Amino acid sequence: MTSESKTSCIGILTSGGDCPGLNAAIRAVTKAAINEYNMTVIGILDGFRGLVENRTIHLEAKKVSGILTTGGTILGTSRDKVHKMLMGGKIRDMTEVAVENVHRNHIDCLVCLGGGGTQKNALRLHQVGGINVMTLPKTIDNDVEGTDTTFGFDTALQIATDAIDRLHTTATSHHRVIVCEIMGHKTGWLTLSAGIAGGADAILIPEIPYDLNVVADYLLERRRRGSRFSIIAVAEGAVSVEDAKGQEEQSAGERLTAEESSKNLKKKKKAKSVNDPASVSSAWGRLTADDTEDNHLVVEPISSRIARRLQEITGIDARVTSLGHVQRGGIPTAFDRWLCTRLGTKAAQLLAQGVYNVMVGYDSGLCKPIPLEQVAGKRKIVPNDHPMIVSARLVGTCMGDKSPFDS
Ligand code: F6P
Repeated sequence: MTSESKTSCIGILTSGGDCPGLNAAIRAVTKAAINEYNMTVIGILDGFRGLVENRTIHLEAKKVSGILTTGGTILGTSRDKVHKMLMGGKIRDMTEVAVENVHRNHIDCLVCLGGGGTQKNALRLHQVGGINVMTLPKTIDNDVEGTDTTFGFDTALQIATDAIDRLHTTATSHHRVIVCEIMGHKTGWLTLSAGIAGGADAILIPEIPYDLNVVADYLLERRRRGSRFSIIAVAEGAVSVEDAKGQEEQSAGERLTAEESSKNLKKKKKAKSVNDPASVSSAWGRLTADDTEDNHLVVEPISSRIARRLQEITGIDARVTSLGHVQRGGIPTAFDRWLCTRLGTKAAQLLAQGVYNVMVGYDSGLCKPIPLEQVAGKRKIVPNDHPMIVSARLVGTCMGDKSPFDS
């Protein structure tokens, strides 16, 4: 017996960086959609690129059997955006093609599993392309607005905590400082949570700019008091006080320049037709230049710079461990499997009711739809007065801005 459904066919894709739990979520959406509501489920390969290239597979309940516990995504993923896709060596807006393929496959709603970038891309497809979308919040960074937690975060937290535990024993034996770099993009959720769980002595996150002299004094004082090792958990996006100031000045400057150029652009637009090819390509140029949020460039890890400088100031032997993509690999924790199953089945229920253009978030123990407009383009950061920060300080953790020994 199947229940009534206002949706008969869905497309499902995974986009952005992979994480444990994606397969559990694909399984939950697919099984509930088919078993309970008799929907057709089309898997779209490699995120939005697969949508544009119309690479799909037909998903049946049997195909998603046995994937609850596996890492990665059976659909494959990519960081491509529909409106700025590299095609034949050029950045092109492929929205029309993507929408055409949604219709060609008779998809009533496109279900997108992804992080912050995916929320924006999905909303754009709805607003510009007019198609129905639904999203599920995935990322180890936990930086998606409108949900208490994202799936993949708990698994990454467990991996990072295990790593800190292991670093403790070797740091103690050698009386060293070990700087452990943890992912999280521009937020400190993962580092702060793992740092607390692993008992890191200092935790440096992007939301609290650090002063290395303060950290160095703290390490020396710890040593004077008999603790001959220290573990520093540093977020990949952490910034020093000086860099934070520089960034602020730069963005103030950019805001001014943007205002200037928008004035100039308005003047030019008056003079030029919108169909002028030159004005179209300049619009593309503007898009690619200013939207760097989803770019992940290869740079020297911050942990190396911090360890080198701390060793210079304190004279204490320092080492670096950058956890990198290990944090995104392997099997999901019980909590992530449980969360994905709840979010995915809730998504199927909402689709059956004809609820579209929402993200299914996790809010105070319940899975709830939240309008995509309230989520997309926003980054959930750690507030400075978050209870986790209060707790970390109360157990004597240095947060990089002041020494716990001074208070
Ligand atoms: O968004 C997830 C994440 O793992 C971030 O923590 C990290 O900054 C980024 O992705 C790494 O991206 P990539 O896998 O493209 O190197």
